[in-house]
Amino acid sequence: MTVLVYDTSEELASATAERLAAALASAQAANGTASVVLTGGRTGNAVMAALRSATLDWSSLDIYWGDERFLPSGDPERNETQAREALLDHVPVSPGRVHPMAPSDGEFGDDPDAAAEAYAVLLNDVASFDVLLLGVGEEGHTASMFPHSPAVGETARVTVAVRDCPKPPPTRVTMTLPTIGRAHEVWLMTTGAAKAEAVAAALAGANPDDIPAAGARGQRDTLWFLDKAAAARL
Ligand code: 6PG
Repeated sequence: MTVLVYDTSEELASATAERLAAALASAQAANGTASVVLTGGRTGNAVMAALRSATLDWSSLDIYWGDERFLPSGDPERNETQAREALLDHVPVSPGRVHPMAPSDGEFGDDPDAAAEAYAVLLNDVASFDVLLLGVGEEGHTASMFPHSPAVGETARVTVAVRDCPKPPPTRVTMTLPTIGRAHEVWLMTTGAAKAEAVAAALAGANPDDIPAAGARGQRDTLWFLDKAAAARL
C-alpha cells in the first residue's frame, strides 16, 4: 500500500494525472496497449480534466468504468457523460475502445441486471486493467458498493446492479471487489476532511462490509492519493 499526501486538491489532481499518464505510457511501451478504469466523483473528474494535456498515445488505450449511475444516455449525472466532458471529448481516443456501461434507455432498457450482465460478458475477455481509479465516499463507499449492501459482499459475479443506493441516483451498476482486484494497480483518490475517518478506517484494514474502500486492492499495488484534510486522521 502506498499513501501519497498533497497540500491541496489541485496539487493532487495534477500530480495524479501526471503519474497516470506515465503509468499508462509505460504499459503501452511494454505491451503496445494500456487500459484504465475510470470513476465518477469530483476528485476523479478533476484528475481526468488534468489528464487532457498529457502526452499519451490515446488511440492505444482501452477505457472502462468501475461503476455507473443507471440513467439515460447523455444524462449529466452519468459518470460516462462527466468523463467525456472532463477528458474524452478533448483527446483522440479510439471510440471503439471506450467501453461505457449501458444507459437506462439503451439496448437493455430499464433493466440494470441486464446492463450489469452485459458488462460482465464484455469484461470476460479482459484479464486485467493497468490502472483502476476509484473515489471514496464519506461513509467509505467506493465505486457503487455501499456499506452493508449485497454488492460489497458479492464474490461470484463480475458486475452487479445496485438498487436503493443511499446516495442518489438509487440505481447503479458496479464492478465487484474481485473484479477491482484484477487490476495491476488500484488508485483511490479523495480529498476533504469529511473523508478523513473513512480513509483512516480503510487504511487500518477495516472490514470491507463496513468500509467498502478497504476491500479495493490491486495485484501489484494499491495507491491512496489524499489531500492533507483527507489524511488528517492517519
Ligand atoms: C458516485 C460516485 C462516487 C464518488 C465518491 C467520491 O457514483 O456517487 O462515483 O462513488 O466517487 O462519492 O466522490 P467525490 O470525489 O465527489 O467526493
